[in-house]
Parts: sequence; structure tokens; C-alpha cells
Amino acid sequence: EQNQWIMGIETSCDETAVAIVKNGKEIVSNIVSSQIESHKRFGGVVPEIASRHHVEQMTIVIEEAMKEADITFSDLTAIAVTEGPGLVGALLVGVNAAKALAFAHNIPLVGVHHIAGHIYANRLLTEMKFPLLSLVVSGGHTELVYMKEHGHFEVIGETRDDAAGEAYDKVARTLNLPYPGGPHIDRLAQLGEPTIPLPRAWLEEDSYDFSFSGLKSAVINTVHNAEQRGEKIEPEALAASFQQSVIDVLVTKAAKAAKAYKVNQVLLAGGVAANKGLRAALQETFEPLEEIDLVIPPLSLCTDNAAMIAAAGSIYYDKGIRSQLNLNANPGLDI
Ligand code: KG4
Ligand code: ZN
Repeated sequence: EQNQWIMGIETSCDETAVAIVKNGKEIVSNIVSSQIESHKRFGGVVPEIASRHHVEQMTIVIEEAMKEADITFSDLTAIAVTEGPGLVGALLVGVNAAKALAFAHNIPLVGVHHIAGHIYANRLLTEMKFPLLSLVVSGGHTELVYMKEHGHFEVIGETRDDAAGEAYDKVARTLNLPYPGGPHIDRLAQLGEPTIPLPRAWLEEDSYDFSFSGLKSAVINTVHNAEQRGEKIEPEALAASFQQSVIDVLVTKAAKAAKAYKVNQVLLAGGVAANKGLRAALQETFEPLEEIDLVIPPLSLCTDNAAMIAAAGSIYYDKGIRSQLNLNANPGLDI
């Protein structure tokens, strides 16, 4: 039988990424060119700078991914590309590169939702067992997504304000830590005790939604009040307290939803999935539950990459889903 070779292209934010995935599961190349260094001094991603970097890097990263996979364009079964959500100028670079290749080499094109990509990163590790629940935690998203089959996504809860990663990055900025702050807070949190009382936004009894802006403001106020009194807050204790509050809510709501929806699997997805505290807390919660499999991707598949886009594209391709050459970037695309 013929092998399936899918090229994934991802440019929704600040990573220019291209990957080749064989038969939906095997990563044969996975190139990620990060722009973090260029955005650091601005304390966040600057959209215009991101677009320019993608333009500079796109061809180089495509060539590298093809070279490492040691295949030619005529071997490709399809090209999967992130069509949204994300920064429009950034998305456009990937979408146009994918369309140009698809047109020039007559290869089918498949548009992929960025969050579907994050979820499908898990398929590079294991078979998906439906019904399943995915906890998606990234810089732009915090969602509980219920899936009863491939390609079916039901958002049962989402953040009403800041995404978890966004809250991490803003708290990190208050503590004068570099961008992106998530990994720095995570590291500090391992060194301190959660001794500072901070709020947890449980919202309504039956809601699976999240809210992190109140917590973020509480951290900022704690720091400012201490400064005004001339006291010093121990950053390790503050990081640990903040992290504990985020994790308590994420894990409690994920566990409640997993039971209510009687899922067979819980998949972690998105950049914040790299968080050591979150990984440990999920393991502790789900390990005793024999009926539920917990899947946590390795760090390289948690943050933005194109292997996850190819993995989702593989499933979509098999389902007969195709995009036309008028595919456009959609910064506000719904899953
Ligand atoms: O999925 P991702 O790479 O990009 C988006 O689609 O947003 O996620 C990036 C986010 C950033 O907010 C970053 O601070 C956060 O993931 N992050 C972490 C950790 N590593 C990355 N947050 C908490 N703990 C970490 N170890
Ligand atoms: Zn992402």
C-alpha cells in the first residue's frame, strides 16, 4: 500500500514551522524557527515583526523540512496549513506558501484550525479513544473541547477573559521576567511554597468556563501593595501561589467534565501543557481513574509546531476534506 506524506505548515503566531508526517503518525521532519528573540524586548509578540519574519523564514523552513524528510514534492499526498485563528498577517504567509506549493505541484490542500492542530498533536503519540476531552491551554486559548469522533469539536467551556498562557505572561511581566513568562513562572513556582492567598474563579456551579483576569489583577495588586509598604514579596512564593490557583481550577474543571461526559481519554494540548505543575497535577488526578486514559505530549509537541497541523491534516484528508485555492487566512476562525 502507498504511504501517505502530509506537509504541515504553521505560522499563526511567532513560530515559522514546517513538518512532514508519514501515515498520520510518524514525524519524519519537524522544523520550528522561533522569533522569540525578536519580540522579547517588546514584552510580547509584535504582529508586524512576526509577519516579516515569517516571510523571511518560510522558504528556508520548507526546504529544510523537505531535505530532512528526503522526499520530493511529487511524493506529497497533501499540504495542511493553519488557516486560523491567529495573527492575520502571520497566517497569510503560511496560507499563501501552502497555496503556491499546492498550485505549482498540483497537491491537495487542507486548511486546519490551530486548536484542532494542538489537540491532534496527541495522535502522534497514541490512538485517540472517543469520546474524549481535551484541555487546550495556550497563549491565546483556554478551552475544554469534547470530541465524540474525528473532526467533531464541541467547546464545552472556555475562558471569558484572559487565556491561561496570557495570564502567565502578564504575571511574569509584573515580576520583571522575560517574555514568554510561562516557563519562568513555572521554574520559580517549583522553588517556592504557595503561601500567598489568591482567588480562584469557579464561576457558576455548572459552568466549565474559566476566568483568569481576576487572578492576574490580584497578583499585580499584591506586588504593588507590597512595594508601597516598602516590603518585598518573595517571587518564588508568588509564582507558586499563582500557579497553584491556575492549576486548581484547570484540573478541577477538567476532571468534573471528564466524568460528566463519561470520556475514555483526556488529552492535554497547547503551550501551557509544558507546565510541570499542571502535568503533575493532572497525572495525580487521572491516574487513579482506570476508565480514563490521560495523554500528555512531550514539550516539543505542546508549543506551536507543524507536525500537529500535519497530524490533523492527515485525518481530514482521509475524511475527504479539501480546501480550494481561494483558501484565506481567518484570524477569528471558530473550531
Ligand atoms: O501554544 P503556544 O505555543 O502558542 C499559542 O498558540 O498561544 O503557547 C504559548 C504560551 C505562552 O503564553 C507561554 O508563556 C506558555 O504557553 N507556556 C507556559 C509554559 N511554557 C509555555 N506556561 C506555563 N508554564 C510553562 N512551562
Ligand atoms: Zn498554539
